[in-house]
Amino acid sequence: MLAERGVLVSGNWKMNENHFEALKLVQELGALLLAGTLPPGREVSLHPPFTSLRTVQTAVESDHIPVALGAQNCHWEDRGAYTGEVSAEMLAKLNVRYVITGHSERRQYFGETDEVVARKIDAILRHGMVPIVCVGETLAEREAGDAETKVRGQVRAALEGRPTEVVASVVLAYEPIWAIGTGRTATPADAQEMCAAIRSEVGHFAPSATAAIRVQYGGSVTPETAEELLAGEDIDGFLVGGASLDAQRLVSIVRARA
Ligand code: PGA
Repeated sequence: MLAERGVLVSGNWKMNENHFEALKLVQELGALLLAGTLPPGREVSLHPPFTSLRTVQTAVESDHIPVALGAQNCHWEDRGAYTGEVSAEMLAKLNVRYVITGHSERRQYFGETDEVVARKIDAILRHGMVPIVCVGETLAEREAGDAETKVRGQVRAALEGRPTEVVASVVLAYEPIWAIGTGRTATPADAQEMCAAIRSEVGHFAPSATAAIRVQYGGSVTPETAEELLAGEDIDGFLVGGASLDAQRLVSIVRARA
């Protein structure tokens, strides 16, 4: 990480934690976070399922827990006949700050294309929130030597053509699909190499955004691997799934030394 960019650690709870469980988890997290200080420039976001957002928001705001509220997905339209969907506008009303978009699980199981992801990014930005745009390759793509091409293409599809200051404000999350939920973390060298490639791709269409844009790594991050990964100069934090469901483990990752 570069000190000026700071570090963002985001807990992606996925389809876990009903609102009772979410309240317990956020209170545990709050107690641990409030018992100490965060390293300078460090930020935490929590991404509960939609049904737990309001509960987590209320707990965070009333107990002054130092975390930003996040969501895992949104629709690209503000309202309308889209049964079962939740809009970016609705999330903004709950003081959501970060919205994950283009997670590989959504691309894989719900057919989200680069085009859909770009429209969701439009909606998130339109409502003053920050997208966390996920990119990453499959194991087959990595083994075929296509990882970088795939990821660079996803970065362009998400961000090319947007104003430089907008590009500089978003968060990209490099999540190799083979590392998600598998216990198989990318090596620090591989993660750093790909995060550097992502930053250099941004440089092709928004050169002045490269120093500011934050690039997270995600995929089986644990307290044991966090410190080594954070040593990579292009890695500005983590998108954490499994380990974010355990308050103690998430806080250890949040406090990892850079
Ligand atoms: P994981 O998930 O930490 O459980 O691998 C990361 C993610 O999918 O965001």
